This record gives sequence, structure tokens and C-alpha cells, in this order.
Amino acid sequence: MLTNSFTGETAELIIDGKGYRLPIIMGTEGERAIDIRLLRAQSGYVTLDSGYMNTGSCLSEITYLDGEKGILQYRGYSVEDLAEQCSFVEVAYLLVNGSLPTRDELKNFSHMLGKYALLHEDMVHFFDRFPPNAPPMSILSSMVNSLCTFYPEMVNNPLEKIDKMTARLISKVRTVAAFSYKKSMGHPLVYPRHDLSYCANFLNMMFDSPVNPYEVREEVVRALNKLLILHGDHEQNCSTSTVRLVGSARVNLYASISAGISALWGPMHGGANQAVVEMLEEIYLNGGDYKRYIERAKDSKDPFRLSGFGHRVYKTFDPRSKIIKQVCDEMLNALKLSDPLLDIAKEIERVVLKDEYFIERHLYPNVDFYSGIIYRAIGIPKNMYTVMFALGRLPGWIAHWKEMWDDPNWRIGRPRQIYTGPKLRPFVPIDQRSSA
Ligand code: CMC
Repeated sequence: MLTNSFTGETAELIIDGKGYRLPIIMGTEGERAIDIRLLRAQSGYVTLDSGYMNTGSCLSEITYLDGEKGILQYRGYSVEDLAEQCSFVEVAYLLVNGSLPTRDELKNFSHMLGKYALLHEDMVHFFDRFPPNAPPMSILSSMVNSLCTFYPEMVNNPLEKIDKMTARLISKVRTVAAFSYKKSMGHPLVYPRHDLSYCANFLNMMFDSPVNPYEVREEVVRALNKLLILHGDHEQNCSTSTVRLVGSARVNLYASISAGISALWGPMHGGANQAVVEMLEEIYLNGGDYKRYIERAKDSKDPFRLSGFGHRVYKTFDPRSKIIKQVCDEMLNALKLSDPLLDIAKEIERVVLKDEYFIERHLYPNVDFYSGIIYRAIGIPKNMYTVMFALGRLPGWIAHWKEMWDDPNWRIGRPRQIYTGPKLRPFVPIDQRSSA
């Protein structure tokens, strides 16, 4: 249950000479907010905040983020510690359940992930009907929504079955992702195995083949665990807010997550990891003149932006990008690979961090700037980078959906608006209308 955080203090808002006292609330890390829920009822005014630049939509105990200091914590643990010391499965458990698992809890959770890894065979046939070039993000959101048709018993009283639903989703989404890749290649499916860990299983389903057995390398498993952990949650971002908003209509978990996957797809959000590599490839193929792209990004008349830079909340380094850059270097070294795109990316970062345009606007590399280079080294195709983001973000989405569902102060999400269209006017019969 979410703890009440009223401080007892109030803020006074004066409109037309009349004062309205608004309660001040405070989070556990000292964040302060003004509760405006009763403002409209008291004054007739609503607040306007397009793009939610300064609006808190809920109380949440899952993730703490300080964008000025570059701090990110899941359930009170620093993301740096978690990435260094945990597996993705442990962190998924932490996000959804609120505490790190004991050995027995981890064993049980891992067992459930193994048990639910298979897809219903009827569902496997769905893949035959998607065109070969179908975007994997589209397949993923369709398949996740379809899970509801196979497990409808989960729709009523979902919190009773939340452990099962969590394991089902986290496990099956990985199988769906790997199968969509195999289908796009026209290759036989590789089924999940109980003897492999979460990430090793995913890599094996992606890359094992009857003619070329895949050797799961420890360095790659380690890198993938870290990447997924770093994507685990990021409080009220666009896709998570989507999951909460859709779920607030009391929609089942599968449909809510499916909507979140769709939101993540956009290049301003999770789709940026693919956009970064496409941008770096283009720079490379055009002779490596990255400075021209930096200049374009600064030109207010050119819509081009440097993908992988900037963030709504971080006004300093995104702590995830620092770790991902390090993982990228470590993994490429371990695999004895070099990638000219990584060299270009590092040059862009070096130049941009000294450039007044980016300094003034606090634009730093974000989580998506280096992650695609790691996926590329692993052999994951570009159109699946955002699927990888979704695999990592899934426990966060589930945790938020569960928190929202369980909140005694839950209300359906329903923003207001300021209407700016025409005033009431007389109806015009069709024969008397002229085109505008
Ligand atoms: N390249 C060039 N200029 C930029 C960039 C960029 N990547 N990002 C922001 N700006 C400029 C922008 O033009 C604006 O300039 P001005 O004040 O002169 O009009 C200023 O910086 C503020 O930008 P904004 O669009 O008001 O900022 P926002 O908080 O609404 O947008 C963002 C955040 C992430 C959408 C944006 O920085 C962006 O488009 N970045 C590129 C896409 C990207 O990497 N997205 C991944 C985000 S992190 C992971 C995730 O959320 O999934």
C-alpha cells in the first residue's frame, strides 16, 4: 500500500484576489509537490501542462530518479550496484515484488520462468501469418495482447494470480522475441531449454541452428544481463505511463503491456536505439563526417536531432549510458571485435560535450546511445533493438501496473483539456455547405 505523504503544510494560490490553500506532499527523497486535485472543484480552474513537463501522475514506491544529479534507484538500490551484482531475473523480482529475492525465492521464480517459457503451439502458428518483414515490435505487441485469449482466467481478480502472470509474461515475451526473429529469417524455431539461464536461453533461441550450434559465451550473457537491468524501470516515462493509463480503465495486464510496447516503439522513446545505429551507419557510409550531423542537429530549421542525446528528466549524464558505454567496450574487447560505429559514437560524444548548443540545453548521451552497438556485436538485427528494450522494461511495466491496480486511491486516468475550437454555431444542412 502506498504511504500517505502529506506534510501538513500548504501552498497558497491566489486567483482574482482569492486564496486557495493546496496541500504540500513530500516523497521519501525530499521531492516536494503541490496537490492540485481539488483546485478545479474549489476555483473552477484546471492546470495546463502539455507533454506533462511538471505533472506528477501518481505516488510510486518503485523507482527514484534525480535528473539533476544523475541518480537512478530501483526500490532503494542504486542501479550501479544492481547492474554490477545481480542477474536480470533478480532485478525483475525486485521490481515486481519490492525486495531482493532470497536464494529460495530466486530458485522458485527461476523455476516458474522455466515452466512458462513455452508458447501454446496454437499461438506459435500465429507467426506463420505475419509477413516476413513484419516489424518485430508490432509482432510483440500483438502476441502479448493475444496471451489474454490463451489465459483468460487471469483477467478477473488479477492480483491473486499476479506471480503466475508475471512469470508467464517475462518468460513468454522472451520466447516471442526470439521466435519472431527466427521466423523473419525463415529458420526453424529453437525452443527454450530448462538448463539455461534467462539470458543464455534467449541467446540460444535466437542464434542456435541445426547446422551451426550456438556457443553461449559468458561475456555476452553478462553484458545482456546488465543491459536488461539498466532498462528495468524508469518511473513515469511514456510507455510506463501508457501501461498505467490503459490499466487505469481496469484493463488486464496483457492488454496494458501491449499498449506500453506500442508506446515504446517511437524513435523519441525506445525506438531511439535503432535510430542511433541507423544514424551512425549513415555517417559511416557518407565518409564519417559526423560534424556535419552535429551541425544539422543544431540548426533550428532542420528537424534532424542527434538520436541518443537528450532526455526529459536528466539534465546531466544519464547514469545508464555511462555503464552501457563501459559494457560496450568490455564486450567488444572480450569478443576481440572492433566497430567503426563505436569510434564515430565516441567522437560525437567528445565533440558534443564541449559544444555550447548541447551544454546550454543540458543534452547528454542517454541510455540508447551505446546500447545498439552492443546488440549489433551480439548479432541482434536493428529492428529488434527496441524489442530488447521491451524485454528489459517489462518487469518495470508489471510493477507499475500492479502498484496502480492495488492503489486504494486508484482513479481512472482522465486528463482535462482547454477547448480552443469554435463556439456553438448553427447547424448547416449539407446542400448549404461551402468548402473552406
Ligand atoms: N539533438 C539536438 N537537439 C536536441 C536534442 C537532440 N537529440 N534533444 C533536444 N534538443 C533540443 C531541442 O531542439 C530543444 O532546443 P530549443 O530549446 O532550441 O528548441 C531543446 O533541446 C529541448 O528539447 P525538447 O524537445 O524540448 O526536450 P524534451 O524533454 O521534450 O525531449 C527527448 C526529450 C528525449 C525527446 C529529446 O531530447 C530527443 O528528441 N532526443 C532524441 C531522441 C532520443 O534519443 N530519445 C531517447 C530518450 S531516452 C530513452 C527513452 O526515454 O526511451
